[in-house]
Amino acid sequence: MNGKLKVKIKDIEFNSPVIAASGTFGFGVEYSDIVNLSDFGAIVTKGISLLPKEGNPPPRIVETPCGLINSIGLANPGTDAFIETYKEVYEDFPTKVIVNIGAETEEEFLEIIEKIENINVVGYEINISCPNVDKGGMMFSEDPNRTYSLIRHIRKSTHRLVITKLSPNFCNIKELAKASEEAGSDAISLVNTFLGMSVDIETGFSGIGKLFGGFSGPAIKPMALKLVYDTVKTVKIPVIGMGGINNGSDATEFLMVGAQMIQVGSAIFKNPQIAFDINNFLEGYIERKGFSNINEIIGTFKGSRYE
Ligand SMILES: Cc1cc2nc3c(=O)[nH]c(=O)nc-3n(C[C@H](O)[C@H](O)[C@H](O)COP(=O)(O)O)c2cc1C
Repeated sequence: MNGKLKVKIKDIEFNSPVIAASGTFGFGVEYSDIVNLSDFGAIVTKGISLLPKEGNPPPRIVETPCGLINSIGLANPGTDAFIETYKEVYEDFPTKVIVNIGAETEEEFLEIIEKIENINVVGYEINISCPNVDKGGMMFSEDPNRTYSLIRHIRKSTHRLVITKLSPNFCNIKELAKASEEAGSDAISLVNTFLGMSVDIETGFSGIGKLFGGFSGPAIKPMALKLVYDTVKTVKIPVIGMGGINNGSDATEFLMVGAQMIQVGSAIFKNPQIAFDINNFLEGYIERKGFSNINEIIGTFKGSRYE
């Protein structure tokens, strides 16, 4: 990377605007043999809960022509085991680490953060939007006042980067973004998966273990882009865009509507080198357009050609 892709959120400088999305990159180490981890500006860990979670019954993933439905159910080792396994690993890690947190109550979120405060990560992505756990933080997304209260308390408990991750499955996404900003969130990330389902026509049962799952991948990109655009217009804090990003051109669209950074999720399964490819594309685009750095792409969307 030639230094032109550096972006800053809060006081943290990232070498690339490309982040690995939660749940699609494990804890980073799993990919270290096949991916140059420093191609990513940061990675977001799989969602961590206070206690270990086994997750949902199989099948947990169903492919569709243009995306996948997952019903993982926040399977994770729990906070203590996470700390025990990764504390040393993250002491000397090739990229920045953001911990994704999923909890059912405000107290639980705060307890997890308190425990993680002494390991070497740059911040937290607060998942108030998991569609795959019965109480996956969804109730925070149903009420902007609860979102405000949660983020306010988290803000008071840490100086680290706080990113609030929003769900597309609620119509009041702008209100939730505003509430998060007012409560002191440093950034908003969106979108989490859209609710989706599939039917196994031979057995008559749901194609995934649970009735519904979270739908991600290329099919959701236009909807995600619109929600990112709306959110950028609603808040002043940085927005981190994701949803169906499959290549450098997709990433550029999100940056143009105003996202400061982007995350790639499902696309990693197909192309683990995607961060390298997007970085290359962005460097070429910057040069082709005569820009001096990535910041000159952000927010350059001109709107309708008739307005
Ligand atoms: C298998 C899988 C597991 C996921 N697990 C999490 C998770 O633990 N926490 C979270 O906030 N989002 C999780 N997500 C959502 C992604 O981080 C991302 O928001 C979503 O997939 C949209 O991006 P994409 O279309 O690039 O995949 C998961 C997605 C997938 C496909």
